[in-house]
Amino acid sequence: MILITGSAGKTGRSVIQALVERGAPVRALVHRPDQIQAVESSGARDVLVGDMKSRATMERAVQDVRAVYHICPNVSPDEVSIGQTVIAAAQYAGVEHFVFHSVLNPQTEAMPHHWKKLRVEELLVESRLPYTILQPAAYMQNIIAHWEQIQSEGIYPMPYPAETRLSLVDLMDVAQAAAIGLTKPGHQYATYQLVSIEGMSQMEVAAILSQELGRPVQATTVPLETWRTQAKEAGLGDYQIETLASMFTYYHRFDFLGNPHALSWLLGRPPTTLNEFVRRITEEKNLTSKTSVL
Ligand SMILES: NC(=O)c1ccc[n+]([C@@H]2O[C@H](COP(=O)([O-])OP(=O)(O)OC[C@H]3O[C@@H](n4cnc5c(N)ncnc54)[C@H](OP(=O)(O)O)[C@@H]3O)[C@@H](O)[C@H]2O)c1
Repeated sequence: MILITGSAGKTGRSVIQALVERGAPVRALVHRPDQIQAVESSGARDVLVGDMKSRATMERAVQDVRAVYHICPNVSPDEVSIGQTVIAAAQYAGVEHFVFHSVLNPQTEAMPHHWKKLRVEELLVESRLPYTILQPAAYMQNIIAHWEQIQSEGIYPMPYPAETRLSLVDLMDVAQAAAIGLTKPGHQYATYQLVSIEGMSQMEVAAILSQELGRPVQATTVPLETWRTQAKEAGLGDYQIETLASMFTYYHRFDFLGNPHALSWLLGRPPTTLNEFVRRITEEKNLTSKTSVL
């Protein structure tokens, strides 16, 4: 049995699917009862509702579990204490393998959510648990948040310079790599960057969107204050807004790059390109709009 924390988010559901496709039994920890259906439809058959901040919940969650795949909620102020609790429960149960869903370049102190992940990596390295650390780049799926504006206005917006080069990864490739790391032998004590694209400016991203969607798309910088207002209106908390703002400020000064070789090697094939990703999402969106009019 493999326990997945944070399992009802987009990452968790993708990892469940990839594991179930490989025939691995999954226990999904969800936060709220209304998330049970989402993880069951991804293939989880054993679901536990609870708070990963609670040691008692985590001790129940790790019972009879071979491996833990730990996904902390995105931009959580409690990432380090949650990491401590989940690792302590895994030590208590003597799990065979602990895989941590970290992030690319966690050593970046200027980004608090990356820096907190580095502290969790440190706890894991010192835990005496056999571990694997996965460090995904920013997901290509983040582009989908702007899909409507891209399609209707031809604008791909970002609160940092369009010249900034970022590495990206397809979440489907991340999930496949996670499932391989959890089910194949030989990945203990490894740390892998998960990167599909070495680095691309946002103008290059917009050019690929134009090419695949058959309409001009322009990468457009939005002032950080405008982004702050929009994020507040969308319901993001102060900690999340300030943390993400510090990431965008960093992107004003630096590129954020990784290397795709580890992901190619893990998958046994080249990672998904941005062209392939945009084509797949376009097909999925077309399919959804066709079925919604039927
Ligand atoms: N997005 C990217 O580009 C990217 C790139 C690299 C790494 N990552 C990392 O990937 C991880 C997952 O991101 P995501 O967007 O898939 O996650 P997410 O949507 O934030 O999902 C996390 C899940 O955990 C649940 N949760 C929150 N607090 C909890 C608690 N105390 N106990 C139990 N469950 C709780 C959430 O439920 P509620 O809805 O109730 O809160 C949600 O279902 C994050 O750590 C992020 O830093 C993301």
